Order: sequence, then structure tokens, then C-alpha cells
Amino acid sequence: MTNSASGSERFFLTTPIYYVNARPHLGHAYSTIVCDTIARRKRALGVETWFLTGTDEHGQKIERSAALANRTPAEFTTAIAGEFRGLWDRLGLSYDDFIRTTEERHKRGTQRFFATLRDKGFIYKGSYTGQYCVSDELYVDGPPGTVCPDCGRVTETVSEENYFFKLSAFERKLLEFYEANPGFMGPESTRREVISFVRGGLKDLSVSRTSFSWGIPVPGDEKHVIYVWLDALVNYITALGYGSDDPADKARFAKFWPADLHLIGKEISRFHCVYWPAFLMAAGIPLPRSVKANGWLLFDQGKMSKSKGNIVRAETVHEVLGADALRYFLLREIPFGQDGSFSFDALVQRYNGDLANGYGNLVSRVVNMVHKFFGGVVPEAGAETAAEAALRESADRAIASFGPAFDDFNFSEALKSLWLLVAETDGYLTANAPWKKPADRSEADHAALQARVLATAAEAIRIITALVYPIMPDSAAKVWRQLGQGEIADAAKNSFLTKVAWGGLKAGTIFAEPAPLFPRAEKDAVERMQKIEAENSKSVIEAASRGITAEGDGGFNPRVKPSESKGALAPEENRPSQNTISSPAVPSTPKEKVLKGHDFSRAENATQNAGALAPEVRSLENTPAIPTFPAAAPLPNVPAPAANVPAEQASASPQVITIDDFAKVDLRVAQILVAERVPKADKLLRLEVDLGYEKRQILAGIAQYYEPEKLIGRKIVIVANLAPRKMRGLESNGMLLAASLPDGAPVLTGFLEEVPLGARLK
Ligand code: MSP
Repeated sequence: MTNSASGSERFFLTTPIYYVNARPHLGHAYSTIVCDTIARRKRALGVETWFLTGTDEHGQKIERSAALANRTPAEFTTAIAGEFRGLWDRLGLSYDDFIRTTEERHKRGTQRFFATLRDKGFIYKGSYTGQYCVSDELYVDGPPGTVCPDCGRVTETVSEENYFFKLSAFERKLLEFYEANPGFMGPESTRREVISFVRGGLKDLSVSRTSFSWGIPVPGDEKHVIYVWLDALVNYITALGYGSDDPADKARFAKFWPADLHLIGKEISRFHCVYWPAFLMAAGIPLPRSVKANGWLLFDQGKMSKSKGNIVRAETVHEVLGADALRYFLLREIPFGQDGSFSFDALVQRYNGDLANGYGNLVSRVVNMVHKFFGGVVPEAGAETAAEAALRESADRAIASFGPAFDDFNFSEALKSLWLLVAETDGYLTANAPWKKPADRSEADHAALQARVLATAAEAIRIITALVYPIMPDSAAKVWRQLGQGEIADAAKNSFLTKVAWGGLKAGTIFAEPAPLFPRAEKDAVERMQKIEAENSKSVIEAASRGITAEGDGGFNPRVKPSESKGALAPEENRPSQNTISSPAVPSTPKEKVLKGHDFSRAENATQNAGALAPEVRSLENTPAIPTFPAAAPLPNVPAPAANVPAEQASASPQVITIDDFAKVDLRVAQILVAERVPKADKLLRLEVDLGYEKRQILAGIAQYYEPEKLIGRKIVIVANLAPRKMRGLESNGMLLAASLPDGAPVLTGFLEEVPLGARLK
């Protein structure tokens, strides 16, 4: 974090720059929100922070989208870039710079970067004929007609004279770099994928195009435009001033480069962890310190039309529940690095449980009671009893665990630990009931208890609020004011997060008037959001007919969202880390009490609610229904036991079976723990799978189709009651299920929802 040049503490972090052929949606907002929370925490820790975001505006697909919309590329990109920027502003995202790749500063820097690579001998001219996916701006191996592995669109045959970058020269250097910098990329799945990609051999990369003109011209050879991915990656340095001779730009570049963090979506890890470091090595520029990949936000397929990509926009949630609710939900619900399903039901449940009934209600009760019993002035707490000591210790634990978890991208755990303190404070209030004087307690004793309990609970709230500020800045600002602490933004400027410690709330502090924080979302909240989205999708159809899609090639619909093309893995191969959070509809609660702030006695209710949403409980209560078993066929190349009919045969002569026949087959969810090739058997992989109740070895004939390392962690379906058999001297105890494609390639089964190991398919 320390810049050796200046010796000062500084932090430079970036989001990916977003394609402007598509309007922003929640997936885009997710990366930007995560960056925003990190930036806010860094600033509040006194670290000089530079947060960059922006838009990626060149390339053939943007050129085509503009033509479809009957606009010039410049008009078109300006309009969509404006939508991104406008949304970031409405959401209150605290970026320091927003770069558009069509800006002059970027053009100048990119050309200088290209010229540097060429001058240093890493760029040469060659020719290329091959398949190109316009949508993903990517060359794809294969004959004409090959389908893009990312988006499924048919590739175009292009034949071009191109400039090539000598990527092949960096294979060893990159591997050495990864080895020497184990923290460079994460999560672990990304690291493994990238390393195995590089180990698989690097080919030189075509870095110019002549087939279209919407791009940055190659300096000195203007019929070529620079490859959009080279153009896009360079934004991270041109935004800081690379390529400019202005002393202020030079100083900013010297101060903030190398970046501390590039936050990216997992499918673009190859670009950021292979190409970008190689370009920088070639140019003699220091490499970023870390690249962290977030998973994808998946959308409840049932609620919106698949053909429209199941877009949910951040504006919708913002409008109904507010930006902080969205921020809290995304960070609390999705373990960073994993995929997670977004659903309005889960959002509203989390909102009501953790925010309205949890933190919001706690604040409201305490602030109201301080007003009611002490005229809004924090009383002297007096001598601590065991109950106060216990709460203080809980707060110390929350302080100690929140920071490290957050800084390790474990936002969900950080919030979970903080919400334990919310529940404990609630429990402490309930246990001491300062609003109720038992008949046998003297007035003086009761006043002392009220003072002690309210001052202590208010102090716990102050700590919760300080820590949660980066995640819910607006709500924290409101609570900070109510606690008489002034403007939290000013506190953040004074590095208040370096000094969060018990005991900061002084007696005599004057509280501001209570103000609503998280009004409980009523039952119609989900419907309101659905309606807004439905109306939006109507306008999306209209817009699409004009060439602007909300789905776009930015790939909102993760089912068609790629991997190979933009970087990492085939979509199926990216599934293992999937964490689905679909939940049942918001339970129809009995008529809720109206939770006004001064309903102090609602403590029990609040505790229950906070508890009811603890993830452990949720996962039990909300265990999703076991998904319908997809059409599956035994894997090719695995000698099929007699009892199993190969798929081809089955479809040729469909045989009707009874439910009892079906029940004989014990189909279970298992997770792959180990996957390795079997020596001298080209087609076989040896797998060790975990069924939850036992571990098994299975041999599967999928070695030609699946890289073993990419299978690790993946949840699959196996036939668990198949008689064991030996292959190549090894016992196979079960059989994997997969769909069989016409060419015989297997596609392993998988789940969108979280499923426990050993769950039976029926
Ligand atoms: N323009 C390139 C990035 C260039 S960075 C030098 C690009 N643009 S994109 O618009 O397609 O995607 C931008 C980011 O948004 C990616 O990190 C991508 O993962 C993220 N998301 C797009 N859809 C998403 C979800 N559904 N969920 C989470 N993030 C997703 O790629």
C-alpha cells in the first residue's frame, strides 16, 4: 500500500471499464459498489485513495450498435456512458475519476503505450485468417462456422494483416511472477485457472484490426486500430496520466501506479492476469499489486423473460429500498468471488430482517429512549456490571474481526460478525428492559439502570455505525447525526476508522431527533420492484429495436456469459463456486405490529427477527427444493454397466418405466474433491467425490473434455448405487451423469441453487 516513490500511504483501485453497448444493470453495479466500499474504508483509515471507473467505448460491436441505433458512434457512446456515470452518481458512488476510452487523454496514452511496445521489439506485423467473435472481441480457434464458446454466437471469418504482440515470450516470466507473488490474483479458483492457462502455452496475440475503424489508430499506420482489449486495459494507466507530459499528470501517475487492486469479473481474468501483466512487463512498467475476481450475479430465471436476459437494474432497488439496502444485500449475501442469485424476495427478507427489524429498530429504540428518559442527553453510565462487560467484550470482538475480514474481501463474514453485535445489543436491551420498572425496584435504582443500559447500548450502536459506514454510508451518516457525533463524512476525513474503540460516546453528548432509517418493506415491495422491472423491460424492447440493449454483449445473462472468450473458462466450468441465494417468497408474516421507534418493548421481536435471518437458520429453513433432474445420459467412454441404457439408444426406442423403476436408481449430489488423469488412459479421469456421508472414487471418461483442475470443487450428480467395477486396475464406485451432445461431448450436470452434498434427486 505504500508507494515507494513518495513514501506515503496510498491506494489505487479500479473497476473494469464497462462496455457501452449495453445499459448498466445490477451486475455492473455490483463491482462498482464493492470498489466503492473498499475506497470508503481506505479513506476513513487515512489512506490516500484513488478510485477509478469508466467506460470501454471502442470496437466493432459498439460501432454496430451505434449503426443500429442510427447514431454516430460518438453520439451513441456519449449517451450510454452518460447513463453509467449518471447511475453511479445517483447511487452515491465515490469514484475519483471516470475515464472514457474515447477521451483524448486515453487515446494519447494508448498510442504511446503501443509505440513503446513496438519500440522495445515486442510488436511485429503478421497476417491472420481465422474466426472472430465480434460480440466478445475475441479470436476463436476452429473452422468457419465455429460458435463462440462465450456467447454462443456464430463467429465471422476474418483475414487480416495484423500487428502481433509477442505474448509467447512471457510464458516463463509470468509463471515466475505468479510464483513470487502468491497474493497477486484471487480467489484461488481464478489463480488456478490462470496458471493452468499459461502453463498450457501462450501464442502471440493479434493487437490490431483493419476490418473496422471505431478505435484508436495504430501510431504511424492508421489503417489499423488497436485491439480493444489492449486499448481497454491501458485505461488503468492513462487515467492516471500515463502518456501525458503535463507535470501534474506525471506526478499522479508516479504517486498512484502501480494499482493496488483491479477488481474484475471472473470471466475477464485472463485479460487482467495474463495479457495485462505481459504488456506491462514488455513496456517496462511495474505490475499491479493485485487482481481480484468477483463472481456473477445470477437472476431468478422464473421471474423475468430469459430472452431479455433477466435484467435487474440497480435503480429499481434504489427506488424502492434505497442504495444502502442494495449495498448491504450484495455484500452480506454473496461471499465475494462466488456466484450468487439475486432475487427480490431474498433482498426484501434480508432488508426487513437485518436492517428494518435489526439495526434500524435497535437505533430507533435506543435513540428514542435517550430522548424520552434523558431529554436526549447521554447519561453517565456509572459502574459496569457483568452485562455491560459482556457487551463491551462483544464489541471488542466485532472491532477485531470486522477489519481483517473486510480487508480480506470477506465482506459477508465481516457483516455477519457485526450483526452478531447488533443481536447482542438487542438481547442486552431486552434482558435489562430499561423501559419497564419492576414494582420492587426503587426509582433511584431504575434511573441508574436506565442510564447504564442506554449509554452502553448507544455506545455499541456507535461502534456498529462506524464500522458499517463504508457499506451503508447514507444510513451511517443519519445514525451518526442522531448520536450527536456530527457528520460522518468529516469523521471519515479524519481517519476515524483507525480509532474505533469502546468508550468513545461521552456522557453529556446531545442526541439529534430520531429519524427513520429503514422503514419496514411491506408485502408489496417485491411486486413494486417487479413492476418497475417489467415496465423497464418494455422500454428495453423498444430500445433494443433501436440497437441499445440492456442485455448487451457485456453479458448480463450469466447463462450465456462466457468465459473462454473473455478470459477464463467455459461457462459450465465456471460453475463450481456458485452460491445461490434464491429464497422462498417472503413469508406471509402475521399482521406486523407497527414498528414505531418508541415501541421499546419490541425487543423480543427484534431479536427473533435478527436471529431468524442468521444464515445458518436461513439455510435450513430455505433449503431450496431439489431441482428437477435434467435429462441425463451416461458418460461416453465409460463402459456402461448393463443396467444402464446409453442415451442414444434410449432416445431411439423410448421405454416407459414406472416410478418404482426410477426409484431404484440412487441419484445423489456429490462434490469433486480430487480430479486427475489416469496414466496411460487418455480418456479417463480419476475422481474422488464427497457425498456428504462418504467419499468415493469414480473413474469417468471425460478426460478429453474437462481439465481435471477445473473440476475440483464442482457439484455434480452421480449414480450412487451402481455396482463397483474395475477399470485399469482401479475401482470405480459410481457413475457421473452428463448430457450427451450430438458429437458425443459430455456436459456435466450442475445446479443453480445451493444443494447439500448427498441430496437425493427424485
Ligand atoms: N469492457 C470489458 C472490461 C474491460 S476492463 C479493462 C467488459 N465489460 S462488460 O461491460 O462486459 O463487463 C464489465 C464488468 O461487469 C465485468 O467485470 C463483468 O464481470 C461485470 N458483470 C457483467 N455482468 C455481470 C453479472 N451478471 N454479475 C457480476 N458481474 C457482471 O468486460
